[in-house]
Amino acid sequence: MNHDLIERNVGLMAVLTAVAISFGGLVEIVPLMNQKSATEPAVGLPMRTALEVVGREVYLREGCYNCHSQQVRSLAEEVLRYGPASQAGESAWDHPFQWGSKRTGPDLARVGGRYSEEWHRLHLTNPRDVVPESNMPGYPWLNKAKVESGEAAAMMTALRRVGVPFTDQDIAAADASTVDHTHMEALIAYLQTLKVPQPPVASPAAAETPAADTAQPAAEAAPADATSAEPAAEAKP
Ligand code: HEC
Repeated sequence: MNHDLIERNVGLMAVLTAVAISFGGLVEIVPLMNQKSATEPAVGLPMRTALEVVGREVYLREGCYNCHSQQVRSLAEEVLRYGPASQAGESAWDHPFQWGSKRTGPDLARVGGRYSEEWHRLHLTNPRDVVPESNMPGYPWLNKAKVESGEAAAMMTALRRVGVPFTDQDIAAADASTVDHTHMEALIAYLQTLKVPQPPVASPAAAETPAADTAQPAAEAAPADATSAEPAAEAKP
């Protein structure tokens, strides 16, 4: 077809542009729909507890995502700084997921376990108390706001509607494990879940026998314990 004809005819140009973009989109998106790693929960992905569900809601409500992504890209410098690159299956229970590129602050996808709960409490109450140069806002009111009765259950019911497999028992028990807690505690509990899912331990039989459980680590740990002279000498330098 004559290029001139397309470029002088806005209607035709619009139609052909739409066709080109749709084709490109389909080629990129459709294969992902059939790829297990993109459609199924990651192996070992734990369900969130009621308190963690409330914490995630606080995270969304307070707009933490305006400054923090939860997506480690597969670039060497990101993997070195944060940890293994994010996989789609890790966000299977997250509606909406928190991937993104807005990083006024660091990525939080692997922040779970990096700091103590007390550190988080101080940091979220007033970030300058622990990171003097921080320009993150404080969220002191979260220390006072108690989780209300029915709050967690409502969120879990909504999440179940979009595919998170909470059971009736999970939802019925939600109040019992949340109402005595503050929104700060809920948020921290949620932050501590942000890490690479750990696949279940290979042999449950071995874990059940206390003897086998303790014997192996003890044998391995002995040289590092530095209780006997020989390994200690080796370990010192
Ligand atoms: C205006 C931008 C901004 C907002 C909004 C914001 N943060 Fe931050 N955050 C930062 C910056 C900048 C840092 C790095 C300095 C520091 O540690 O305080 C940071 C650091 C952090 C860290 C430590 C990360 C690490 O790896 O050291 C955590 C955890 C965190 N923020 C959680 C939150 C949570 C939860 C919220 C919402 C309640 C939030 N942030 C809202 C900007 C922001």
